Amino acid sequence: MKFYERDTESRLRLLAAEGSLATQDLELLSDCAALPRAVAEHLIENQIGVFPVPLGLAEHMLVDGHAYRVPMATEEPSVIAAVSNAAQRVARSGGFHTQVLREGIPAQIVFLDHSHTREDVQATQMQEFLAARQDTITCVADDAHPTLRSHGGGLRSVTAQAHDGFLEFDLLIDPGEAMGANIVNTIAQAVARYLGSQLPGHEPLMAILSNATAQQRVRASAEITMQSLATSDMSGETVARRIVEAARFAQCSGLRAATHNKGVMNGINAVVLATGNDTRNVGAAAYADLDDSRRTWTTWTIRTEGRKPGLLRGTIDIPLPIGSVGAAISTLPMAGLAMRLLGQPSASQLMGIMASVGLASNLSAMRALVTRGIQAGHMKLQLSSLAMMAGAQGRELDDLTAALRHNPAQANLTEARRLLTQLRADGE
Ligand code: MEV
Repeated sequence: MKFYERDTESRLRLLAAEGSLATQDLELLSDCAALPRAVAEHLIENQIGVFPVPLGLAEHMLVDGHAYRVPMATEEPSVIAAVSNAAQRVARSGGFHTQVLREGIPAQIVFLDHSHTREDVQATQMQEFLAARQDTITCVADDAHPTLRSHGGGLRSVTAQAHDGFLEFDLLIDPGEAMGANIVNTIAQAVARYLGSQLPGHEPLMAILSNATAQQRVRASAEITMQSLATSDMSGETVARRIVEAARFAQCSGLRAATHNKGVMNGINAVVLATGNDTRNVGAAAYADLDDSRRTWTTWTIRTEGRKPGLLRGTIDIPLPIGSVGAAISTLPMAGLAMRLLGQPSASQLMGIMASVGLASNLSAMRALVTRGIQAGHMKLQLSSLAMMAGAQGRELDDLTAALRHNPAQANLTEARRLLTQLRADGE
């Protein structure tokens, strides 16, 4: 029997018999309430277990007047603390405000054009070709996904272009509340078959959605008072000015923009994952929106109005092709739980929450960078992760973390193991 034809139990037996898995590995792979084997083995091929990462809640998130505790799935120690910390500062001046655009996901239908017709002539012919078939194309799209219209979605537009020896038809498909990858690909393939039947002599190449989803985007903004930004040794005005310069530097430096953007995605990805959305799709869409003239999704300025003291104002403008219903959201029990914790938001509300979390994550990182430096805030969680790596368990974890804190500069795995041995010896 082939590996993929076996069920999970039989794959595990095989791997154990081969010596690839030891007894403790089998325990790690045993059934998991958060994603039962009965579900997991039908989600992917060759499934042998599940891969849990911690799920936590970012607090103090006030988005468009709603207070949320936002579920975030991440293995990076400081991400949730960073978001909660910034969200609390933002909540003091009214929270995050969002505007969402959900117009559709693009799809490309591509034919090889062997006709050697001039591109401008070809373009005119394609316009006429489309104009004559517009209604049929809409019917073909509706038939391919008969329930989509009743959910407020459907084909929104079709355009054509001829370039570089290709004929390209671009569809824009509104997926309703879903992320829409399956919907869009199903419709694109159906329309491609129809167009192929109308374009004899043109070789069909592919029909696939594009992850450059500029029309599924969200803008979130936040204002923070100077008082909320101050540290024990830096005034709020100085912190704000330095944050604005840090954001400007990200726009000027590709090297820095990569890290600045990673800080934003630390927050967004964790919510995307927790809610059963597609992290790769969101990453592809977000980065496809950037280029050398726009290196990051966030901007930070100081706003002064009349005689009022200034406010630090941050905005994020980012494509987020996500859904509030759909395959993984319904099948992954933890995604369902995350959506319940959020009060079953619509796709637009969820986009607003995600973008706000990204902005909060960015604010926290920059405030740390331009004040005490990033390591100071990360230290406690990093030391406790080092303590775990050294093998500390139960109460030992707190004790070893505290011992490592006495000399953070010396904290490494060897030192953690030495201190753990000493703690155990002292405890006997
Ligand atoms: C670490 O995961 C993310 C940061 O490096 C982001 C940043 O530098 O802005 C802290």
